[in-house]
Amino acid sequence: MMNRQPLVVGNWKNGLGVADSVRLAQSLVGELAGGVRSEIVVAPSLLSLVAVVEALGDSSIAVGAQTIGTNDVCTGEVSAEAVADAGVTYVIIGHSERRMMAAEDDDDVAAKVVEATRNDLIPIICVGETKSERKANRTKAVLRRQLKQVLAKMKSDSALVIAYEPVWAIGAKKPASVKIIREAHEAIRGMLGRSARIIYGGSINQESAPLIAAEPSVDGFLVGRASLDAAAFHAIIQAYERV
Ligand code: PGA
Repeated sequence: MMNRQPLVVGNWKNGLGVADSVRLAQSLVGELAGGVRSEIVVAPSLLSLVAVVEALGDSSIAVGAQTIGTNDVCTGEVSAEAVADAGVTYVIIGHSERRMMAAEDDDDVAAKVVEATRNDLIPIICVGETKSERKANRTKAVLRRQLKQVLAKMKSDSALVIAYEPVWAIGAKKPASVKIIREAHEAIRGMLGRSARIIYGGSINQESAPLIAAEPSVDGFLVGRASLDAAAFHAIIQAYERV
């Protein structure tokens, strides 16, 4: 991992209301009161961003959005400027669910990354192949395609976070194998400088976290389901205390 600080991100997706999001944030503050070496980010739904920023107070846990709008006059979108103004510091961009269900393509992802950085939000850019792309041996080509435009638009990669999330491992029974993760992370690293962080996401839980945290090409995790339980999320974070 060189000198990169581990980054563990909880992607709360869209199931929690404001009160439940605040409760989860408060439990997490309690869980992490002793301090950890990793940087911790939680990404509640847009609806709960303001309340969660407030609930986290001056704790060291940062807040991320799950997406941003790129057009200030599009009804229903929330601009990067407004998100940053709410005290949010990260934004997840190009999650496979948005690529598939909200029809976001590589152009949209690149535009959002530009918009995020222009507003001092650190983008967490999700990439990853589908099952059929993997079967067709196209994983590296897909990762290259997904990152090409983003990297062409970035001046420096220092604040970049790439989340490798193989689509077939999201919401699954178990994460990808360490071998698969290493190959993908090394391929991604070949396209970046040394300072960008490359984190893994897809069915991380407290059982699988230690083995993957021990893999040097992995700089942290993007956690979905297991981040909805403060104790389980804490146990995942603990995997990096032992590396
Ligand atoms: P999961 O979700 O941990 O529930 O597989 C990961 C994600 O979608 O970011």
